[in-house]
Amino acid sequence: MSVMLVRLLHLVLSLNLVSMVAAADGADQFTYLGFIGSNLTVDGCATITPDGLLRLTDGSLVQKGHAFHPAPLCLRNSTGGTIRSFSVTFVFGIISLFLDLSSQGMAFLIAPTNNNLSAALPAKFLGLTNDQNNGNASNHLFAVELATIVNIESGDPDGNHVGIDINGLKSVQSYAAGYYDDKSGNFQSLSLSSRQAMRVWIDYHAEKKQIDVTLAPLTMARPVKPLLSTTCDLSMVLTDIVYLGFSSATGTIYTQHYVLGWSFAVDKPAPAINIDNLPKLKTAYAGPKPLRKVLYIVLPVVTTMVVLVTGGIIIMLVRRLRYAELREDWEVEFGPHRFSYKDLCLATDGFADKHLLGVGGFGKVFKGVLPTLKLEVAVKKVSHKSRQGMKEFVAEIVSIGRLRHRNIVQLLGYCRRKSELLLVYDYIPNGSLDKFLRKNKESKHALSWTQRFRIIKGIASGLQYLHEKWEKVVVHRDIKASNILLDKAMNGQIGDFGLARLYDHGMDLETTHVAGTIGYLAPELIRTGKASPLTDVFAFGIFLLEITCGQKPIMNNHACGSQIPLVHWVLENWRDGTLMETMDARLQGEYDAGEAALVLKLGLLCSHPFPSARPRMAQVMCCLDGVAPLPDLTPASLSLAMTWDSAFDASVAPDPVTSFGTISTFSGGR
Ligand SMILES: Nc1ncnc2c1ncn2[C@@H]1O[C@H](COP(=O)(O)OP(=O)(O)O)[C@@H](O)[C@H]1O
Ligand SMILES: *[C@@H]1O[C@H](CO)[C@@H](O)[C@H](O)[C@H]1NC(C)=O
Ligand SMILES: *[C@@H]1O[C@H](CO)[C@@H](O)[C@H](O)[C@H]1NC(C)=O
Ligand SMILES: *[C@@H]1O[C@H](CO)[C@@H](O)[C@H](O)[C@H]1NC(C)=O
Ligand SMILES: *[C@@H]1O[C@H](CO)[C@@H](O)[C@H](O)[C@H]1NC(C)=O
Repeated sequence: MSVMLVRLLHLVLSLNLVSMVAAADGADQFTYLGFIGSNLTVDGCATITPDGLLRLTDGSLVQKGHAFHPAPLCLRNSTGGTIRSFSVTFVFGIISLFLDLSSQGMAFLIAPTNNNLSAALPAKFLGLTNDQNNGNASNHLFAVELATIVNIESGDPDGNHVGIDINGLKSVQSYAAGYYDDKSGNFQSLSLSSRQAMRVWIDYHAEKKQIDVTLAPLTMARPVKPLLSTTCDLSMVLTDIVYLGFSSATGTIYTQHYVLGWSFAVDKPAPAINIDNLPKLKTAYAGPKPLRKVLYIVLPVVTTMVVLVTGGIIIMLVRRLRYAELREDWEVEFGPHRFSYKDLCLATDGFADKHLLGVGGFGKVFKGVLPTLKLEVAVKKVSHKSRQGMKEFVAEIVSIGRLRHRNIVQLLGYCRRKSELLLVYDYIPNGSLDKFLRKNKESKHALSWTQRFRIIKGIASGLQYLHEKWEKVVVHRDIKASNILLDKAMNGQIGDFGLARLYDHGMDLETTHVAGTIGYLAPELIRTGKASPLTDVFAFGIFLLEITCGQKPIMNNHACGSQIPLVHWVLENWRDGTLMETMDARLQGEYDAGEAALVLKLGLLCSHPFPSARPRMAQVMCCLDGVAPLPDLTPASLSLAMTWDSAFDASVAPDPVTSFGTISTFSGGR
């Protein structure tokens, strides 16, 4: 309460004083005890604070500020044309963020105008000049600088000095801030940046053309000996009409420059300033803080970090999305067989076209090298729409993955994505067998009979393993030449497992598919849709004929332009006594006739239309190994032309290469 009252009183008093004194002074003198209501002309960051201080700079870096007494003055003797004596005194304070360290300083000045310092620069130019006009006589400038930073170019003695400047910052005379003690005559230095208010007296003696500048702490009476005293004819410098004021500038240290009071008089000493009536200088710095400076450093760092982190998160998200997989709880038990999509992506260079091995009935097959294991694999991408039955299917895939046989392509594992199933197999370098059998574009060198016989035995052994030697009966469902892959040593390996099951498990409910390939489908499979080891034997029989004759299961009959089943053709030749003419021409007659006949007859027996007449794979193996003889066969006993025709007529019609035609295609609409 009382503090407020005192403040108010003080405010009213100072207001009155300013207006009273200013009014009483007239043109030749003025006094400011604080600046409330003073009507100073200010620019830059100069302002009058609410408690009446003239604040020339607010603490912002590399800024300038000016303040002028509003009325122009004429200092020139009307008769003699010389500048008259004048006297100035003012009280100032420099408050910097750091004690005894500030930048850049302030100056009292007499200038030809009060509005022509816009081109002046802050920092070392103190808001007085710039690098173009510094020192130019056309400036008509007189200043007393209180500088707190050394400016080498201006010949400053130190970073805490007072200087008399004419037209520029190269001082006519300067000296370290301080005063001469009246009693001892010793020099006492003062720190301009000490946050203490100090007083300056500037006197121009017209007769002696002498300028005296005196500095002292606020509470001290004016020392007798001035700090600076120099001879300089201001008549040569100043214009007829002049403006009196202050200039100040900051550099790279947060500094506020204040003027507390100011008086001036011509031809007599400036009116004394009663320090009791001055506004108080707050000795604590309260301007812009290095917080900002910290921000200048921290902000870019933080921004960069934020950008980096955000970028990182985005990249992670993109990668997550790119490598997104479907993983469900039930898959935990299949963990070891599960591959990460990322690994498969990396293995195949993102499923690049150059790694495409081929396109099969289920989807594309890519070659890849697993990044960690450095293992060559074939990745089959199977698209599926429904997730129904996926669990059973994966369970089967995994169980198939446990099959180990040298004539079975090893299924290494799987991976699931939204609409894709990826199956990972051992890579089999020589590709599928059918490419070696066909005489067309893709054909490779013909296989010798020895190679063919070895492949036959291998496949038979693999199939026997599936049917009879493993813990469960596994029906392959799609035995055919294109599903037999050849390894480096040209051994046959059964590939493409379990995919037929994909359809059985209702993966694709829109159409009911029969798994298998036309030409290899046993008649009862077409009728009932039920696969069994014997339907595999049927397909194996067709495969035997295919590899021996080098013909497709459904042949083009060149004579009549129709298509006839290979079985039918071989059977007819046998009946006509020309069985050996069905041998692949590419063998050029080089084959073991006994083996060839055995294989052809075995092929016919295996693809017998009646399942009950077909041998089991164990029997097939015995025949091939020569352990057991082939049962007595005649063309007649196998000649069931009617059955053949009724079985095949409907199925021959569509494109014979089409895999997995719908049931409706076979049964003429269901
Ligand atoms: N494990 C593998 N190693 C090497 N090549 C393979 C492998 N699996 C498939 N391929 C190649 O990819 C092609 C397409 O395979 P696949 O989808 O099994 O054909 P289809 O469905 O017609 O039987 C094959 O012709 C074969 O050359
Ligand atoms: C302030 O200055 C303006 C123009 O310089 C003048 O018109 C006005 O009367 C002055 N006011 C006071 C209070 O001195
Ligand atoms: C003006 O100058 C003349 C001579 O230089 C001097 O006699 C006179 O006193 C001066 N007048 C003032 C007001 O200083
Ligand atoms: C400012 O001063 C320059 C000379 O330094 C002068 O040419 C120019 O006209 C002045 N401008 C104003 C607005 O007074
Ligand atoms: C001083 O300033 C004037 C006008 O602004 C200019 O013509 C002159 O060249 C300057 N002199 C020097 C030495 O720069």
